[in-house]
Amino acid sequence: MIKSIGVLTSGGDAPGMNAAIRAVARTCLNKGIDVYGIMLGYKGLHEGQFYKFNRHSTRNIINVGGTILKSARFPEFKDPAVRQEAIDQMRKVGIEALVVIGGDGSYHGALELTKMGVNCIGLPGTIDNDIPDTDYTIGFDTCLNTIVEALDRLRDTSGSHQRCTILEVMGRTCGDLAVNAGLATGAEIVITSETGFDEEKVIERLRLSKASDKKHAIVVITEHITDVHELAKRIEAATGFETRANVLGHLQRGGSPSARDRILATRMGIRAVELLEEGQGGLCLGELNNQIVAEPILDLFDHKRKVDEGIYEDILKVR
Ligand code: ADP
Ligand code: F6P
Repeated sequence: MIKSIGVLTSGGDAPGMNAAIRAVARTCLNKGIDVYGIMLGYKGLHEGQFYKFNRHSTRNIINVGGTILKSARFPEFKDPAVRQEAIDQMRKVGIEALVVIGGDGSYHGALELTKMGVNCIGLPGTIDNDIPDTDYTIGFDTCLNTIVEALDRLRDTSGSHQRCTILEVMGRTCGDLAVNAGLATGAEIVITSETGFDEEKVIERLRLSKASDKKHAIVVITEHITDVHELAKRIEAATGFETRANVLGHLQRGGSPSARDRILATRMGIRAVELLEEGQGGLCLGELNNQIVAEPILDLFDHKRKVDEGIYEDILKVR
């Protein structure tokens, strides 16, 4: 019977991480398992920054964005000697297993710890939705709604001034935020790593748009594809469409989690504790067809995230 579990958040924060921490803590306490919050991801694990949770520790956090445990990037954790020092810290207080909430980098850490004898379960906490074998990651839905709200506001002013408006959104190399936001807001053009970026085609499309009865246009683009401010200048020069570029930035990562993210995080937090209680480790959780599923982290690394090509086609059907 497992006696003590730790929980940490790692990598970029995401709305819903607190709901997951709460679910892990309460499930443990209800089962009579000690539960520790570990500050600052793997950095805090290495430094022994552990706080024993009681019933009040996770009060009033289900609706709060960010992570009460803070997050940090700690590349030193790739070193096996550093990981061993972290394990030694855990042993001092008796933590036997971990729930790791983060992205695929954090999953690598979780897998390595499992190989070294500490069972870990990974929960997909990232706004990017870039993890294979789950329909959604914790934080994606909230972030998507934030982007949609921003685009609705931009549409107001874009329409008033008959402009082309570009919005750059996050996602690293994953286009899910951009394409879903584009579909939800009636964007003219969506550019992601999945669509590829052909500037001539984009300009041609906007020329056609300006020549039609459409008086303004919205372009949604994933980060790291091109400099959107320079793109705006080139679009304006080539099409005569007055163009403005916006980079939404880190405000996409904050805010109270949506109902969907709270539910996903809570269900996954419960399941993670159940799996650790069964003595399982080296697994990560996903949601497929509304069911919480577990699979070996090692298998996940072999899989590429499936791109929903249908949604890209749907954008074209309604523009
Ligand atoms: P995310 O989890 O959101 O993908 P990162 O890629 O920054 O974010 O990874 C988060 C943390 O996971 C890193 O700062 C590091 O501590 C740990 N990590 C990443 N890759 C590895 C690895 N190969 N081995 C051990 N730990 C890793
Ligand atoms: O992975 C989440 C994410 O917000 C990405 O969308 C973005 O590229 C990155 O993190 C930004 O990282 P940082 O907070 O270190 O600037």
